[in-house]
Amino acid sequence: MMDWTDRHCRVFHRLLTRRARLYTEMLTTGAILHGDRARLLGFDASEHPLALQLGGSVPRDLAAAAVIGEDFGYDEINLNVGCPSDRVKEGRFGACLMAEPELVAEGVAAMKRAVKIPVTVKCRIGIDDQDPETALDGLARGVIAAGADALIVHARKAWLKGLSPKENRDIPPLDYDRVYRLKRALPHMPIIINGGIASIAEAEQHLDHVDGVMLGRAAYQEPWRLLTVDPELFGQAPPHATMKEAFEAMMPYIEHELARGTRLHAITRHFVGAFHGVPGARAFRRHLAEHGVKPGAGVAVLREAIALVEGRALAPMAA
Ligand SMILES: Cc1cc2nc3c(=O)[nH]c(=O)nc-3n(C[C@H](O)[C@H](O)[C@H](O)COP(=O)(O)O)c2cc1C
Repeated sequence: MMDWTDRHCRVFHRLLTRRARLYTEMLTTGAILHGDRARLLGFDASEHPLALQLGGSVPRDLAAAAVIGEDFGYDEINLNVGCPSDRVKEGRFGACLMAEPELVAEGVAAMKRAVKIPVTVKCRIGIDDQDPETALDGLARGVIAAGADALIVHARKAWLKGLSPKENRDIPPLDYDRVYRLKRALPHMPIIINGGIASIAEAEQHLDHVDGVMLGRAAYQEPWRLLTVDPELFGQAPPHATMKEAFEAMMPYIEHELARGTRLHAITRHFVGAFHGVPGARAFRRHLAEHGVKPGAGVAVLREAIALVEGRALAPMAA
């Protein structure tokens, strides 16, 4: 997610779940081909399994960017066919590609020829006045024929006229049944559902119908839920028993980053929801907001903030 799932965020989330697959922010093929690759694509070895999400529509550029991603060590290349922003429409990629399924399929085929790692697509159920029955089917069948390894479906249409990207994440309504029907029609294709899934318990219900679940805002805004992913969905112990332990495990990474010149706030801004809804959470947030932004702020600020959270609130919480 743009501006959210940067490297620091992903290192943090990986300390909460070993099994969930993490995704980068969308990176355009232009940025990858012509920009500062080390800065854009570099990641910490702990982040695996990690998917690189591409924005683009020119098959040759998608293939070249996918090869670069594979060389950097990413585990999956994902193509964005769901982002509704104007900047993205002008570049002829994102959700507007729902109207060009042949071009999407060509892009997938080009990437499949170029890399060995899985190539996946994230799309909507349709855009604007498209009929979701035919639009989603057409896109899915095209990318499957092109060799896509999985399809992630944000279960609502995107409206490219008249709605902001933010509004497009809550309006129009979700249609989970449409995604379940796609899975029934394509039983051999891994289908992952996304959109409005607020808890791991809800995720479990979707897994009766589809192969996987993608959490966006719930994972970012309430990251403590991720501590329950491994035990609840994979029957394994979480990497750390509590959020406090996970933060302790993150300290060496933070110290290393601070020594490289990263500001503390660039990392701790992703911790805002760590103790969402528990006593002391507000004091934790306020301490980080006030002291974490000061020049030279170090890990002591984070330790002080954690100390403001009630001890019993640091135990694992229900998802
Ligand atoms: C701040 C923000 C940035 C996002 N950036 C991306 C992105 O780069 N690529 C993408 O496929 N979706 C992006 N999304 C959409 C989410 O991946 C997801 O599809 C959407 O929020 C619905 O799922 P949710 O209800 O679980 O959040 C973004 C969402 C938010 C809130």
